[in-house]
Amino acid sequence: MLSLNATLRCGAVPLALCLGLGTGLRPGSSLPADDDDPSELEAQMEHIEDAVKHLRRSLRDPANRERSLELVVDMQAATFACKALTPAMLEDVPESARPAFVTDYRRTLVDFLDAQLELEAALLDGDEAATKAAFDRVRGLEDTGHARFTRDED
Ligand code: HEM
Repeated sequence: MLSLNATLRCGAVPLALCLGLGTGLRPGSSLPADDDDPSELEAQMEHIEDAVKHLRRSLRDPANRERSLELVVDMQAATFACKALTPAMLEDVPESARPAFVTDYRRTLVDFLDAQLELEAALLDGDEAATKAAFDRVRGLEDTGHARFTRDED
């Protein structure tokens, strides 16, 4: 019989993380909960920003492949967490339009994750041109996402 420690080592923790336990994710929920803390979304966005900054440097040299892959996985984890949160701007949206707004936000994050998976695949394939194209796609989604889902500064 496996001890608790062995069970955890063998996969209970990764499984829990995949299910979103302890990360604020709610498996099976169609919409994020009302009690989302916008500052959590900002914190995850800061992780994404850090990863992108470091990737810009590490991607210059294919010898940094392992480091680049780590950064991509960090960014994916942060993006996954963002999917269960809602933008502060949601409060400004008329109630009847909120479900569509949340769906659009989540759909954009699915595109964002898709671009990150493309980046991961290109790195694993050792394909430099595809790596550059995928990284440009990842970065391009920042402006798209912010234009649609963040409040105006003024
Ligand atoms: C390379 C891609 C991206 C980067 C580097 C990035 C970075 C950031 C940063 C630094 C912030 C500000 C956090 C703060 O206020 O301190 C932020 C906020 C935000 N970002 Fe992004 N972001 C990216 C992509 C996206 C995408 C794809 C979406 C939407 C699908 C998105 C939605 C938001 C929202 C809604 C906020 C405001 C936070 C809130 O409402 O509470 N971002 N992002």
